[in-house]
Amino acid sequence: MNAKYVLAAGVVLLSLSDISHAAGDPKVKSVMARSDCFTCHSIDHQVVGPAYKDVAKRYHGTAAPAATVIVLAQKIIKGGNGNWNKETGGSPMTPHPALTQAQATEMVKWVLAQ
Ligand code: HEC
Repeated sequence: MNAKYVLAAGVVLLSLSDISHAAGDPKVKSVMARSDCFTCHSIDHQVVGPAYKDVAKRYHGTAAPAATVIVLAQKIIKGGNGNWNKETGGSPMTPHPALTQAQATEMVKWVLAQ
């Protein structure tokens, strides 16, 4: 691979990540809309679950460490409470066992981009 290709690939990757960091991948949002995420979550205010903007803030947005992303994806699949009891009064997130780790990871990345 010559330097020009490497540079071009770098520019493409950078611009792709800019798009996905702006407000998250819209395709992921539509998958979330078909699931039940927005029944309990809104982007900017507390519903049953915390606002996605608050989740992003707590975990440092798109700069969240990979290990955090894995833990949050597991939380979506397995459900549970404990991290937001002050905001939710202890309500749990229901489990989503039909989601794969990869799907849940995409959703976490979308949430962290809010
Ligand atoms: C029945 C309501 C409900 C549904 C449906 C729901 N959530 Fe949640 N969610 C919650 C609650 C409540 C919390 C706070 C849990 C806690 O206190 O640890 C939460 C927390 C989260 C968190 C932060 C977890 C943490 O430990 O900080 C993420 C990310 C999240 N939800 C994403 C999703 C996604 C994506 C979906 C759809 C697949 C979804 N939620 C569906 C209620 C819900």
